[in-house]
Amino acid sequence: MSAPSPDTRKFPPTPEFVAQANLSGVEAYKAAHKRSLDDPEGFWGDIASELTWMKPWDKVLDDSKAPVYEWFVGGKTNVTVNCLDRHVANGLADQPAILWEGEPADETRVLTYGQLLAEVERFANVLKALGVGKGDGVSIYLPMIPELAISVLACARIGAVHSVIFAGFSAESIKDRVMDQKSKLVITADGGWRRGKALMLKDIVDEGVADCSSIEKVLVVQRHLDKEPFPHTWNDRDVWYHEIAPTVPAECAPEEMDAEDMLFLLYTSGSTGKPKGVMHTTGGYMVYTYLTSKLTFDLKPGDVYWCTADVGWITGHSYIVYGILQNGVAQVMYEGAPNSPDESRFWQIVEKYKVSIFYTAPTAIRAFMKWGDQHVVKHDLSSLRLLGTVGEPINPEAWMWYHRLIGAEKCPIVDTWWQTETGGHMLTPLPGVTATKPGSATTPFLGIDAAVLDEDGNETDRGILAIRKPWPAMLRGVWGDEQRFKDTYWCKWGGKYYFPGDGAIKDEDGYFWITGRVDDVVNVSGHRIGTAELESVFVEHPAVAESAVIGVPHEIKGQGLVAFVIIRTGVEGEEAVWRKELTAMVDSKIGKFARPEKIVFSADLPKTRSGKIMRRLLRDIAEDRPLGNVTTLADPSVVDNLKEKFKA
Ligand code: PRX
Repeated sequence: MSAPSPDTRKFPPTPEFVAQANLSGVEAYKAAHKRSLDDPEGFWGDIASELTWMKPWDKVLDDSKAPVYEWFVGGKTNVTVNCLDRHVANGLADQPAILWEGEPADETRVLTYGQLLAEVERFANVLKALGVGKGDGVSIYLPMIPELAISVLACARIGAVHSVIFAGFSAESIKDRVMDQKSKLVITADGGWRRGKALMLKDIVDEGVADCSSIEKVLVVQRHLDKEPFPHTWNDRDVWYHEIAPTVPAECAPEEMDAEDMLFLLYTSGSTGKPKGVMHTTGGYMVYTYLTSKLTFDLKPGDVYWCTADVGWITGHSYIVYGILQNGVAQVMYEGAPNSPDESRFWQIVEKYKVSIFYTAPTAIRAFMKWGDQHVVKHDLSSLRLLGTVGEPINPEAWMWYHRLIGAEKCPIVDTWWQTETGGHMLTPLPGVTATKPGSATTPFLGIDAAVLDEDGNETDRGILAIRKPWPAMLRGVWGDEQRFKDTYWCKWGGKYYFPGDGAIKDEDGYFWITGRVDDVVNVSGHRIGTAELESVFVEHPAVAESAVIGVPHEIKGQGLVAFVIIRTGVEGEEAVWRKELTAMVDSKIGKFARPEKIVFSADLPKTRSGKIMRRLLRDIAEDRPLGNVTTLADPSVVDNLKEKFKA
C-alpha cells in the first residue's frame, strides 16, 4: 500500500488551459510516458528530429559503457544553431529573445534573436582571437547581464567548455574551479550591481586567478561604463571586451560538435570534499532541455517567460539559456534582487513585460509572503498563465499563497524536481495534464522511470528516490574523478539505479513528494552546500580543533546552517572574535551565501564510542526536540552542555 498524501488537496488544470496545452490530458501523458520507457530510442529519436543536426546520429542510446551512457552516438550538431540560427532562418530574427532589465531601473536592453546571434558570433570570434578553441576550458564570472548568456553561447559556438561560476562565490572558489578545470580564460566584468551596491567582480577574479598558471587572458566586459574607477588594477593579461570586439570578424560558423563532446562543466557541492565538476555533453542535454522547456512550461510563440534564477546555477543554464532559447520565445533577464529598490520589483517587472510564464524558488515565495501582499496587489499580473518553482521542497502554505495571489487560482503550478546532475526536469507536473497537489513534484517527466526504494533496493512508499533508466541530459561524469562519479551516484544499489541523494514519499496516486537530502548536503535558499566544505573551512582556523555543521529548518531559506565548533584545549580567546573570524573565512573561502545562522562553541561534541559525531543528536538539539537514543554516546553529559550553549 502506498503512503497517504501529506496534502490531499488537488488542483486540476482549467479546461481552458488543457484545451491549448502542448500536451493535454492524462491519457496522452500516460501513452507518451509508456512509449518513452518501452522504446526510448524511438521516442528520443523522434524528439531529436525536431532539431537541426549537421549529421544524424547512428544510434540513439549506447549503454555499453554504463554508467556512462552515450546519447545520439555519431550525431553532429551545435546547440547554438538550435538556440539561434534555426529561429533566424525561420523568420524570428526580429522577435525579442532577451528583454534585459538592469538593477538600476532605467537600464534596459532588448536583444532580438537576430541581434543575439550577431552578439554571440562576435563574442565567439573574440574568444578565438584570444587563443581559445574547441575543448578549451573557459571560466565565466559575470553578473546577470546579457553578456553572461552571450558568453555561454559563444563558448558553445566554438566548442569551448564553459564553467560558469556564480558571481556570489569568493576568490578562493574561483581559484578551485579554475585550477580543477585548467581553464585558459576567465570572462568577467568590471563590476555588477546588487541592491545598489557595486560588486567588484574583476578584483575578485584577480585575487582568484593570481596563482592559476593555466589562465592566459582575463576578458573584461565593461558594465560600469563611465562610473568610478573600476577595476582597481589592470594586468598585462587583461583585455577589455569592448576594445577587442570591433577588431574581429562579425561572422562565426558554428563548430561541428559530436553529440558526446563536452558542452560545459558546472561545479556543485557534495557530501564530501571539494565541489565536483559535473560534466554535461552536447546532444542529449540539447534534446532534453528543449523538450522539458516545451512541455513543462508549455512554451508557445508569444509567450514572455521569466526565470528568476541566476545563469550561474543549473536552472539558469537549462531554463534561461539552452532550453528556453531553443523554443524561440521571448524571456526577461533581470540583473538584480527581488527587493531592490523595493519589495514589489518582481511584480513590477511582470506587469511591465506582460510575463506569461514565471519560474522562481520557494525561498523567494516565502520572502514575498513575509513582505506582505500589498507589494503584489498593486500590480497587474493578469498576463500570467503558468507558474513554476524549483530548488527545494515547497511548503503547502507557500504553494497556496503562490496559487492564490500570483496565479489568481487559474495558473497551473509546476513544482519541478531536478538537479545539476540531471540537466533538466525529472519529476514535474505537466501543466495541461497533471492535477497538482501543494508540495508535490508529482510525476516523472517523459522518459523518466522513478522509484522510491529502501536501503536494500526494495520498492517502498517512504524512502530514497531512485532513477531506473538513463535519460539524455544525465551527467556523463565528475571532471577528473571517475571513481567519485561511480561512488556518488551509482554504488548505492549496485549500479542499477541513479542515486540523487534525496528522500521521497510515493503516495496512493503515485505522486512523489521530495522530503529533502539524505546526505550531508544542506539546501540553503535553493543553494546546495556541503557541510563537509564548511567544516574544512573552520578547521583551518588556528584555534579550531574540530567542527560539525548541520542543516536546520529556516522560515525563509528552507534550511539554514548551524555550526558547532570545538576550540583547541589551552587556546585563549573570545567567542565573539572567533565568530567574526570564522564568518569572514566562510565569506572568503566559499561566499557570503554559505554563512551559518549560528556558530556554537563548545568543549565537546556528542560522539559514539568509536569517535563518530552523532549529527542526529545535534539536529535534535538545534530543533529543540526530545533527544533520541543516547545510549551509544561516549560521554552523555556532553549533550546537556551543548543544549545550554545552544540556547545561550
Ligand atoms: O534536494 C533537491 C533539491 O535541490 C537539489 C539539487 O540542487 P541543485 O543541483 O543545486 O539544483 C537545483 C535546481 C535544479 C535536489 O537534490 N530540489 C531541487 N528541486 C526541488 C528540490 N527539492 C524538492 N522539490 C523540488 N522541486
